[in-house]
Amino acid sequence: MGLARGQSDALSPESRQVPIDLGSTVLLGDWLRGPQLQAFLQDADVALLINNAGMVQPVGALFDQNPAQLAASVSLNIAAPLMLSASVAAIMKDRETRILHISSGAGRNAYPGWSVYCATKAALDHHARAVALDAAPGVRICSLAPGVIDTAMQAQIRATPVARFPIRQRFVDLKESGGLVSPADCARAVVGYLLSERFGEKAVDDLRGV
Ligand SMILES: NC(=O)c1ccc[n+]([C@@H]2O[C@H](COP(=O)([O-])OP(=O)(O)OC[C@H]3O[C@@H](n4cnc5c(N)ncnc54)[C@H](OP(=O)(O)O)[C@@H]3O)[C@@H](O)[C@H]2O)c1
Repeated sequence: MGLARGQSDALSPESRQVPIDLGSTVLLGDWLRGPQLQAFLQDADVALLINNAGMVQPVGALFDQNPAQLAASVSLNIAAPLMLSASVAAIMKDRETRILHISSGAGRNAYPGWSVYCATKAALDHHARAVALDAAPGVRICSLAPGVIDTAMQAQIRATPVARFPIRQRFVDLKESGGLVSPADCARAVVGYLLSERFGEKAVDDLRGV
C-alpha cells in the first residue's frame, strides 16, 4: 500500500495506492480512523512500514522561512511518520512490525539553510531511539540515512539560490561528478536492509556504512 499525493504506474497491480496529502495531520488522522489500514493489515504476519515521504523546504535562514511551509514540513517530516508508526503498531499488536524512517545525514550534521530539514530529520532519529527503548513485543525500528540520491529533491536543492543555501555548490559538484546514487539502487539497498535479520539492531543507521 502506497500513500502519496500522486499515483505511480511503476507499482505492481496487486498493490494499492492511496491518494493523500500526508502534510495534513487532519486528513491523515481521518484516514487512520477509517477502516483501510486495519483491513490491509488484517491477515499480515509482518508489517513493513517505510516512512519515506519528506520535503526539504523551507530552505533559508530563519528570517527567510515561510511559516506555512515550515508547518507543512513539520507535519510531513515528523507528524505523519509518527502517526503512521503508532497506528500500524497498534493494529499489529504483538505481530512483527518493522518501521523504517527515511532520515538524512542532515539529522546528524547541521547545514546552513536547512534548520527545519535538519530538525525534522533529527526528530525522526530520536523517535527511533526512544521507541527502541520501549522494547515493545514484535516492534523493530530504524531511522536510516539513505545517502545522496538522484531524485527530484536533489534537483530542487541544486536550483536553490546560494543566498538561501550557501553550500549548494557541493550538491552541484556531486551531481556533475556522478556522485549521486540512482533511486532504483537506493531502493534495492533500503529494502535489503529492511528485510535483513539485523534490522532493528541499530535504532539509527546510515546506508552508506552498511
Ligand atoms: N534525495 C536525497 O538525496 C535524499 C537524501 C537523504 C534523505 N532523503 C529523504 O528521502 C525521502 C524521499 O526523498 P526524495 O529525494 O525521493 O524526495 P522527492 O523527490 O521530493 O520525493 C518526495 C516523495 O514524497 C512524497 N511526498 C511529498 N510530499 C508529500 C505529501 N504532502 N503527502 C504525501 N506524499 C508526499 C512524494 O509523492 P507525491 O509528490 O506523489 O505526494 C514523493 O514520493 C525524504 O524523506 C528525504 O528527506 C533524500
